[in-house]
Amino acid sequence: MENKIITTIVDYGYDGEGVGKLNGKVCFIPYALKGEQVELKIVDEKKEFIHGKLEKVILPSDKRIKAKCPYFSICGGCSYQNIDYSEELKIKKELAERQLKKLNYYNEINVISSPRPYSYRNKIKLFVADKRIGLKKRNSNEICEIDNCELVQKQINNTLHEIKNFVRENNLYQKIENIIIRQENDECLINFYVKNLLKDNILKQLYKRLGINNGLYQTYNQKKIYVCGLKFLEKEEFSLTCRFSPYSFHQVNNEVCNMLYRRILEEVSDENVINCYSGNGVLSGVLCKKCKNVTAIELGKSEHKEAELLKQLNNLTNLTNINGDCGEILPKLVDNFETIIIDPPRKGVDKKVIQAIRDTNFKKLIYVSCNVATLVRDLQRLGEFKIESIELYDMFARTGEYEMLAIISKSKKNNK
Ligand SMILES: C[S@@+](CC[C@H](N)C(=O)[O-])C[C@H]1O[C@@H](n2cnc3c(N)ncnc32)[C@H](O)[C@@H]1O
Repeated sequence: MENKIITTIVDYGYDGEGVGKLNGKVCFIPYALKGEQVELKIVDEKKEFIHGKLEKVILPSDKRIKAKCPYFSICGGCSYQNIDYSEELKIKKELAERQLKKLNYYNEINVISSPRPYSYRNKIKLFVADKRIGLKKRNSNEICEIDNCELVQKQINNTLHEIKNFVRENNLYQKIENIIIRQENDECLINFYVKNLLKDNILKQLYKRLGINNGLYQTYNQKKIYVCGLKFLEKEEFSLTCRFSPYSFHQVNNEVCNMLYRRILEEVSDENVINCYSGNGVLSGVLCKKCKNVTAIELGKSEHKEAELLKQLNNLTNLTNINGDCGEILPKLVDNFETIIIDPPRKGVDKKVIQAIRDTNFKKLIYVSCNVATLVRDLQRLGEFKIESIELYDMFARTGEYEMLAIISKSKKNNK
């Protein structure tokens, strides 16, 4: 009989996975909780660590609860549905604080929770393959078929049901790679990324089933094709008229995003601000209401186009949107700005951007980060500075991710 592999979970890893010891090595076991004794299967064994799969919880933690979602631990989306939301926040806080110690920052961080830990996401990206429509399994390209997702807003799930039926009835699996559904208020935009163009009349049948609160697009070879229904989603945010296409980046949790932007607004005054990695321009628009001049830099063409539209719709005469790479543009601009805001993708900022920030006399740097590891690395590269405050915004409740907001001032002092 095969020997059972058993360990006790003593800690959490950066993704919220349980950490135990095995064969003298650190062993990472997703979905195992601190204090639990678990049986595992070894998935991968390296020189210094092991990746394990949770087979059975032998002694459960008193914090363990039943996940709301039937796909939890199969689908790779969520990490924390097996504990209360308040426990998840404690773990995230501890993990973030652990990383921040590398900056000699020992203060307790403030945590801003998601008002809705479920049904908050305004967007889902679905994968299509092998006659399945769903989300990716954890660390895998295999698809976990889903009928609904607990994290997305209600209308997205209704739309998902209709789309699944439609793709099955018309046997379109081979033609579609991804489906993006995006919701604002009660309206949705659906964008099919296709390997072969779908016929308009077929998509129009889907539109009839979904109703007039929807718009359909398909994207083929990077060509964006509007098919029928709504062309964009429109909403009022911070007294701004915002229009979103299915193509641009948008923060996925509207309520947490609002709190984050409000907090950033508290940090600026009637001054010149540069907003790097500015996305579709909502934050730039918000800043324009308080700041003298706002210059925004964004690489994405769709995001830039939307930001220009937002400028025009709201007559933001103190806003300049630049379409380009921050690493190229920022070094040419930095002399005239008191406050620099950066909100890069997970990989953090380019060395050229760090150098440009170091070269200027900025008074304040506002760094929004969705990856605490790259935030720490970038701040280490920044040299002399003072951390005024760091907060955690739980933009991605129930998943392993979160946003950090760091307010930095230039100083001779280190953060000791
Ligand atoms: C995390 S999003 C932030 C968007 C925006 N600040 C917001 O709140 O919606 C990062 C943005 O940076 C853009 N981006 C990525 N690399 C860039 C680069 N090298 N230069 C400028 N923008 C970049 C992406 O297109 C994306 O819109």
